Amino acid sequence: MIGRLNHVAIAVRDLETSAALYRDTLGARVSAPQALPAHGVTVVFIELDNTKIELLAPLGDNSPIAKFLEKNPDGGMHHLCYEVEDILAARDRLKAAGARVLGDGEPRIGAHGKPVLFLHPKDLSGTLVELEQV
Ligand code: CO
Repeated sequence: MIGRLNHVAIAVRDLETSAALYRDTLGARVSAPQALPAHGVTVVFIELDNTKIELLAPLGDNSPIAKFLEKNPDGGMHHLCYEVEDILAARDRLKAAGARVLGDGEPRIGAHGKPVLFLHPKDLSGTLVELEQV
């Protein structure tokens, strides 16, 4: 059911510093920052040949990554994003298997303009998983 690894997301405190690390020290292609108020984050994408790295920094007062950064002040791996062809079919299959979908369970539009869902880490080997319909 799951397809390619679309991206690995890393939560960071300072987007500029982390983007510069990837661009200047690691020599990667780095996108311009993109504010996603509906998700409470600003994102930068690092384009690798086989996948992407998503740097996430908090945006606004109720950012969903604020608590994560309290626990992980140096930043850290936040989620994995797998591609699926049919996000509603994937959601229903996972729910039937007992996985919990975060939020109201309905897909929202993510950073690539495509529908995304998040699944509870407790149901997925301790890893927050994002599904993106491609
Ligand atoms: Co993501």
